[in-house]
Amino acid sequence: MDFKDAILLLHPVIVIVIVFPLMGLIANRGLQVRQRRMQLAAGDKSKVPPVVGQEHVQTGHWLTAAVVGATLIALANDIFGTVVSSQLWSKNPFQVTLIGLLFVATIASLALLYRAHQVRWRATFAILTGMGLVILGCQDGVYRKTDQWYSSHYYYGIVASLLMIFSLSIVQSIYKDRTQRWRMVHVVISSVVALLFIGQAITGTRALLEVPLSWQEPYIQKLYEQQCDTKPCTVQPTPQTP
Ligand code: HEM
Ligand code: HEM
Repeated sequence: MDFKDAILLLHPVIVIVIVFPLMGLIANRGLQVRQRRMQLAAGDKSKVPPVVGQEHVQTGHWLTAAVVGATLIALANDIFGTVVSSQLWSKNPFQVTLIGLLFVATIASLALLYRAHQVRWRATFAILTGMGLVILGCQDGVYRKTDQWYSSHYYYGIVASLLMIFSLSIVQSIYKDRTQRWRMVHVVISSVVALLFIGQAITGTRALLEVPLSWQEPYIQKLYEQQCDTKPCTVQPTPQTP
């Protein structure tokens, strides 16, 4: 296995070792928060300790960072892999610098979102982080599968990441809102995220089968050139196309 292949594995490894276990923990704590709230609202005593709310939010902070981090690693692998293979640095160093700065700006916006307290600043940094992800996702080399968006690992991943950022940005609104509307919004969004994560497990495993190891790339490229000259393509070209 080459260094390049090991870098490719970094993203799935982080998701499996960090993101999925945190997701299990956060769903469990979230259900306990709800159970406790319902029991107290009905005038009963609850066996669920009050600390579960705090644990849920703390885990939410870690989960959001892990999901956005894993997404950025996958995008960086796609984008910089293409920068190297197309020798973009020698052709257009300005574009490469700009892409690098965009990664830094996205990470900085997320860090500032964690620190911001006022609603308008939380909204600003949430939007900036989301924009960073979307713009990076539009770069060359990202395997988007737009023609099959309904089963695309990229689209599911970006939507899940944006929803996590949104959840992080509304934490204080959930606590302040006496009508519980933000709480309901949060539960609906989180249920969608949970489904998207299942989709990511399926499409991500498929992606691992589709991306060739470094030593396989020239053979697949050759096959692609041979087959696509004469009839419709059934093999994956390398480097990956959007
Ligand atoms: C995708 C994973 C998540 C799931 C499945 C989830 C689920 C839940 C559930 C079921 C509740 C209880 C709602 C109720 O009382 O009716 C809750 C509450 C809450 N969640 Fe999440 N959540 C997730 C992610 C997050 C994230 C990322 C954050 C932000 C850091 C967050 C912040 C909160 C807050 C602030 C509350 C209210 C806690 C309290 O009342 O003490 N959640 N969540
Ligand atoms: C929370 C879950 C996940 C999110 C948010 C996520 C997000 C992403 C994104 C945005 C990309 C870049 C677009 C692309 O190349 O398709 C990507 C690539 C990829 N993901 Fe995931 N993913 C998740 C889970 C997984 C899992 C569970 C696996 C495998 C078991 C996986 C394997 C891959 C692979 C192999 C690539 C291609 C990387 C490359 O071309 O450099 N992902 N992921």
